[in-house]
Amino acid sequence: MATLRAVDKAVNIADLRRLARRRLPRIVFDYADGGAEDEITLRDNCRVFDSILLRPRNGLVVPRADLRTTVLGSGFDLPFLLAPIGSTRMFFPHGEALAAAAAGAAGAGYVLSTLCGSPLEEVKAAATRPVWYQLYLVGGHDVARAGIERARKAGFSALVVTIDTPVAGMRERDHRNGTSELLTRRIGSMLPYLPQLLARPRWLARFLADGGLMNFPNVMLPSGPMAYADVGSALEQCAVGWNDLHWIREAWKGPIIVKGVHTADEARQAVDAGADGLVVSNHGGRQLDGVAASLRVLPEVVAAVGDRTEVLFDGGIRRGSDIVKALALGARAVLVGRAYVYGLGAGGGPGVTRAIEILRADLVRTLRLMGCGSIAELDRSFLDLPSGWPTAAR
Ligand SMILES: Cc1cc2nc3c(=O)[nH]c(=O)nc-3n(C[C@H](O)[C@H](O)[C@H](O)COP(=O)(O)O)c2cc1C
Repeated sequence: MATLRAVDKAVNIADLRRLARRRLPRIVFDYADGGAEDEITLRDNCRVFDSILLRPRNGLVVPRADLRTTVLGSGFDLPFLLAPIGSTRMFFPHGEALAAAAAGAAGAGYVLSTLCGSPLEEVKAAATRPVWYQLYLVGGHDVARAGIERARKAGFSALVVTIDTPVAGMRERDHRNGTSELLTRRIGSMLPYLPQLLARPRWLARFLADGGLMNFPNVMLPSGPMAYADVGSALEQCAVGWNDLHWIREAWKGPIIVKGVHTADEARQAVDAGADGLVVSNHGGRQLDGVAASLRVLPEVVAAVGDRTEVLFDGGIRRGSDIVKALALGARAVLVGRAYVYGLGAGGGPGVTRAIEILRADLVRTLRLMGCGSIAELDRSFLDLPSGWPTAAR
């Protein structure tokens, strides 16, 4: 109850982050909060928003702000979707279903990761709005095909193919916190890392009651669901090349969105290979450290393929004004990752609801303060871009 009250009192996403840090063991919090290597890209993803100023149109009376949009044929009340997040169930029991339900209730979209801890049918059943399925080729093509077929049968409306994980990024916090050792299930290896779990007894009790260490119920190997400990090596064998989009297209007749586009050239290749939509994304700074902040490459991608496909964006969004800036630079909609994960970690479903509400209220207030009555009206004229900001397609 105390947690719920704290979640409701959270004024911004940073407050939810603080609450999540207090409730979760360090290893779980850092899994969400951290990035690759020196976390340069992780930090830049957020900082880049600070360098862009807003240009309001005062004197226009805007009684409300219309946030509705359509993405690849699906209608949403809000211009953002909850991004695919692996192992969401670690943050809170049944985290995937809770997040999908909270998104649906608010009129936002939800994207389920292949590497989630809940059967995709259970998550779909909890959702009241369109939900998309994010595909990793873990387990090989046949396993992926079976997953695609399950997602189709369950009613997922689009497939998101992530292309920026040919190997897992070097997330140093995970190494220091003993992620591999804890997965060995050998007490001698685990022992030095157990105190961080014991320091959060309420989280631990819930986690164990929810089944403890999970497998991946949507990655069905011949031997059964893929074990959690196998994820690292499985990722190493699941690089997605442009050619893969052809057989994926055969297997999935609905919209395909390619996630993890960093350059205009990649964007053109993805569209040529048949993508219906793109997400400009560097995986939230968790993969290749040192790539540009996502927002900096959004303009070149929009200029290159914006007339042929819908361009989505993610990376670093912590406020509604960040969403306004991405939309003004040409994104059709955005995905938010950590912003909602902090809410889930802070207080389960109500925490996700609070995160969505914070972003929604931010969006409405920002648009009205800018004299802009609808997200459809947003364009660069509402922004003051720093000198040297990339403009043209490469
Ligand atoms: C804990 C965590 C797990 C993630 N797991 C996945 C995943 O399974 N599949 C995927 O395509 N992206 C995954 N991502 C990347 C997100 O979908 C998204 O691109 C990123 O979080 C956006 O940046 P933001 O967190 O700053 O909003 C993950 C991100 C986080 C933080």
